Amino acid sequence: MVGAVQGAGVVVTGAGGGIGAALARRFAAEGGRVVVNDLDAGKAKAVADEIGGIAVPGDASAIVAEAKDALGGVVDVYCANAGVGSGGSEAAPEEVWALAWDVNVMAHVRAAQALLPDWLERGSGRFVSTVSAAGLLTMIGAAPYSVTKHGAYAFAEWLSLTYRHRGVKVHAICPQGVRTDMLDATGSAGDLVLVPTAIEPQDVADALFKGIEEDRFLILPHPEVAGYYEARAADPDRWLTNMNHLQQKWEAAQ
Ligand SMILES: NC(=O)c1ccc[n+]([C@@H]2O[C@H](COP(=O)([O-])OP(=O)(O)OC[C@H]3O[C@@H](n4cnc5c(N)ncnc54)[C@H](O)[C@@H]3O)[C@@H](O)[C@H]2O)c1
Repeated sequence: MVGAVQGAGVVVTGAGGGIGAALARRFAAEGGRVVVNDLDAGKAKAVADEIGGIAVPGDASAIVAEAKDALGGVVDVYCANAGVGSGGSEAAPEEVWALAWDVNVMAHVRAAQALLPDWLERGSGRFVSTVSAAGLLTMIGAAPYSVTKHGAYAFAEWLSLTYRHRGVKVHAICPQGVRTDMLDATGSAGDLVLVPTAIEPQDVADALFKGIEEDRFLILPHPEVAGYYEARAADPDRWLTNMNHLQQKWEAAQ
């Protein structure tokens, strides 16, 4: 049981399934009052009914005001979890790039715009960003996803370094493969890189709660990602050559 969550007003976006549903279940089990958001109203309602939460369906970019009302005026924890997979190369259609920016980055920015005035006034608030290991490392075959997840990571980092002395806690969750509908949709690149070490959505929730207890920004449900991230920083060309070998292996398998 994490004391910080007992009785807290919690919002989880994209919580109709996958990682978001696992986060919503865990926050509810820890005593949080949970708003379950999803674009799919039926899925949001099903999870909300299951956990005794409140469904607030709609686009994650525009739900803070409604969620705040539903929680009696205070959002203590906001999980910016909704995301889109957005595979493809530089040639992915403009709409694919635009949606990836909108959901994977700008929804986080817009939520922060709506949340920060209250949080800074109260001197407390917790922003949880479901990024991805692709935000630290880059995913083969998925330029829009990799670029926007790097953006989501950068925004979480910026929030943390800007407001940590004012009571705002930020966590960036960066898993590799997690067994959800999104993983199923990643195709042969996901089969090669993500599926072999995939974990369950509740493992991601466990990692977040451990990180909350330990007051850590970077949450790595796959601990090996720390070593890859270190290798990338230490020797970018060597790391890129290794990633390119993976790319070539993927091309050969298609
Ligand atoms: N599954 C993985 O392997 C994996 C790995 C790393 C990071 N992630 C990230 O985890 C997060 C959750 O993904 P998941 O794997 O649970 O996928 P998922 O497809 O199971 O769930 C995503 C949910 O978000 C909802 N959604 C999409 N756009 C929305 C919007 N604009 N507003 C509100 N809801 C919206 C969808 O309806 C869906 O229910 C995403 O940000 C994803 O990038 C996933």
